Amino acid sequence: MNTPTIQADTVIRNIGQLVTVARQPVAGARGTLQVIDHAAIAIHDGLIVWIGPDDELAPYFVHDETKPAHGLSTDSILLVDAQGAVVTPGLVDSHTHLVFAGDRAEEFHQRHAGVSYAQLLAEGRGILTTMRATRAASKEELLAQAEPRLDRMRRHGTTTVEAKTGYGLESKSEETCLQILKELNRFLDENPYPQNRMHVVPTFLGAHSVPPEYREQRERYVDLIVEEMLPAFVGLARFCDVFCEQEAFTLEECRRILTRAKELGYQLKLHADQLTASGGARLAAELGATSADHLDHASDDDLVAMREAGVVATLLPGCSYTLRTPYPSARRFLDLGLDVALATDFNPGTSYCENMQMMIGLAMSAMGMSLEEALTAATINGARALALQDQIGSIEVGKRCELAFWSIHDYREIGYHFGVNLVQSVFVA
Ligand code: NIG
Ligand code: FE
Repeated sequence: MNTPTIQADTVIRNIGQLVTVARQPVAGARGTLQVIDHAAIAIHDGLIVWIGPDDELAPYFVHDETKPAHGLSTDSILLVDAQGAVVTPGLVDSHTHLVFAGDRAEEFHQRHAGVSYAQLLAEGRGILTTMRATRAASKEELLAQAEPRLDRMRRHGTTTVEAKTGYGLESKSEETCLQILKELNRFLDENPYPQNRMHVVPTFLGAHSVPPEYREQRERYVDLIVEEMLPAFVGLARFCDVFCEQEAFTLEECRRILTRAKELGYQLKLHADQLTASGGARLAAELGATSADHLDHASDDDLVAMREAGVVATLLPGCSYTLRTPYPSARRFLDLGLDVALATDFNPGTSYCENMQMMIGLAMSAMGMSLEEALTAATINGARALALQDQIGSIEVGKRCELAFWSIHDYREIGYHFGVNLVQSVFVA
């Protein structure tokens, strides 16, 4: 038999269940998530070159060096034994506020005692509390606080994370935060150990809150974003995001900022219709944003407009959990035919949680998602929310090899066995 040659530098064998989350049917796979039992993966140069049942890899895999060199050459192959683990795509956390100093434990407990999030914001607290701490911190301090957060994300299975600025709210500290993201990304990407690598996608969120020095002349702050910050951060940030909300930025201000950002080549995101019906979802559709996030108060018409424009709907159950507000029904979004992503919204105010498994669990218990939908939302649809669906988010030939190894025997334990970390490690080739 003539076995075709596969060039590979890494082979992962003995995978108990390979949950590919592939959109196209995969040979030998079953179910909506395209699961292959007892599987193997071959990787070359960071890209997946072969997936399939482990025993079908054997013909390519020549252990005996005296045999003719057809199939995989073993001389320089890194062989990883998955020891029966469940393997899924690395989780994609497409919405986080990673870089900030301090915490807001005090406000968290005040809110539980009855003070609302909007009220804190109106009093110059909330986001502005964190802004003050962030401005006062050095770059080294900010970096030192961001690193263990990334580490926790990775230990819970996240391999690609989007990270926003938005606590500097002035040119210099916004730029510092973007520089930190760049350094973190380089450091992680170049890490020699596949289980220590991850990717950070930088987003500029200068329009997170109007800083106190511009409170009486907010138009000037929007000018600053449009005329100074956006042009200066081209190349440093991939996305531009805005907080479109009564207590933050008006629809018109958001339109102005995002329109300029689009002209400059940024991809767009919005915090839309979170606390009130702000019109953000509609604007996301109008401008062709990559995603609109939160959406608690978006109408069906808005959501249909988003669907027609191909905007991903990102749901953030950590906020409902923290703010003790009703969870948006994921069923509604799914039934309207939207691509739904799940993310942590990791931040010190509304979702102080690095763990994507928790979001999957909440989505299943409180938002009406099935495991299949939640895992899709936390992987391939997270990738869509970052316009990276051709590169990551599923385990398919041609994609980057970013994996989560789970210490479970059946993927159906995900979302069922809760409150503990089921991920044993990640692997980024
Ligand atoms: O996504 N809503 C605006 N931004 C964040 C909260 C940030 C904060 O409270 O510090 C969010 O919920
Ligand atoms: Fe957010």
